[in-house]
Amino acid sequence: MDFTFTEEQEMIRQAARDYAQRELIKDVLERDAKAEYPAHHVKALADLGFMGMLVDPRYDGGGMDTISYVLAMEEISKIDSSVSVIMSVNNSLVCYGIEMFGTEEQKEKFLRPLARGEKIGAFLLSEPDAGSDATSQRTTAEDKGDHYLVNGTKNWITSANSASTYILIAQTNPEKKHKGINALIVDRHSPGITLGPHEDKMGMRSSDTHSVMFNDVKVPKENRIGEDGFGFKFAMKTLEGGRIGIAAQALGIAQGAYERALKYAQERKAFGTEIFNHQSVAFKLAEMHTRIEAARFFCLKAAWMKDQHIAYGTASAMAKYWAAETAMYVTTEAVQIHGGYGYVKEYHVERLMREAKLTQIYEGTSEIQKIIISRAILTE
Ligand code: CAA
Repeated sequence: MDFTFTEEQEMIRQAARDYAQRELIKDVLERDAKAEYPAHHVKALADLGFMGMLVDPRYDGGGMDTISYVLAMEEISKIDSSVSVIMSVNNSLVCYGIEMFGTEEQKEKFLRPLARGEKIGAFLLSEPDAGSDATSQRTTAEDKGDHYLVNGTKNWITSANSASTYILIAQTNPEKKHKGINALIVDRHSPGITLGPHEDKMGMRSSDTHSVMFNDVKVPKENRIGEDGFGFKFAMKTLEGGRIGIAAQALGIAQGAYERALKYAQERKAFGTEIFNHQSVAFKLAEMHTRIEAARFFCLKAAWMKDQHIAYGTASAMAKYWAAETAMYVTTEAVQIHGGYGYVKEYHVERLMREAKLTQIYEGTSEIQKIIISRAILTE
């Protein structure tokens, strides 16, 4: 077993770290306060090749492996998860979905600009009444011969306004339940699409999240991904990879909070010494560090399995579950170590704590990951 990274993986990590520590840090607090979309950072990440980093260079992607993706996601999320979630959805849900299951024509037309980061993608699965219970899709895609007619509402859609390309999951044949669901590539500017207001979120405030309403939206038949009725399996397969991205995001949030808490503990004095010298603080940091290291192993193992084409659905669920729980634990402890300073914006850890909460909720809650893991226990 080899735990070392290749030279290329190290270079990618360094490039992500440099960008995050030099550029993202400058305006992260302001964007969080104003809930301002980070357009210039998305453009810069596209120039670095990070918006389509996993896509084959044949389709203008970076051709990087999933381990490199985890390393880059961690570095960016240490500073700003509003930016890393845009990168993660574009890479793991939208580009991956089209590259793995799309036709050659769909790849030529939709994947290339997404891989170059000229266009941004969004993944539309969740609905007002179908979050965790993803088979209960109410949005309909009625088969009209040469096109589908879409009606319904999607909720909590990351990049809903900034995206040009949507991957929409909708029900075509309700009698067939999940086997009647389709995945369609939809132009966000199609007539009949309207957005709800920008969601005023607790964390990751500068990514743009909206509901999306479809009213008699025509989608050409050639935009369907896979065979008729493949949509639910498509969503599940795509989310398996998406969860590695969000696990790496949670890892980055935890690592970012831990580094800030460690630095603070070595500088802040109380009772005549740096607070690190008090066991109550040193033990906290030891616990945080150990849990983070375990999360890192889970993330890298799932990424390695994906790169080796070994079934990785359970591994990615474990990585997502553990990393999200770790992020919540570590950020809460980081705030505690900072005392009153942890509760104000300037020290960043309160923001990281707000961001951590979302990693326990989206791309499947922690409870959903436990459903996936517990089912696997019976079949392994
Ligand atoms: N790969 C392939 N097929 C899969 C699969 C997988 N990983 N998981 C399930 N399936 C198939 C099953 O085999 C079954 O097919 P058959 O009937 O042919 O056997 C079918 O899908 C239904 O499966 P289940 O009976 O297991 O379905 P379920 O109703 O029990 O639900 C679930 C399973 C895991 C709970 C699923 O509903 C789920 O993952 N829910 C969470 C949804 C989610 O993660 N939403 C996130 C929204 S996206 C987002 O957050 C993006 C963003 O903006 C950041």
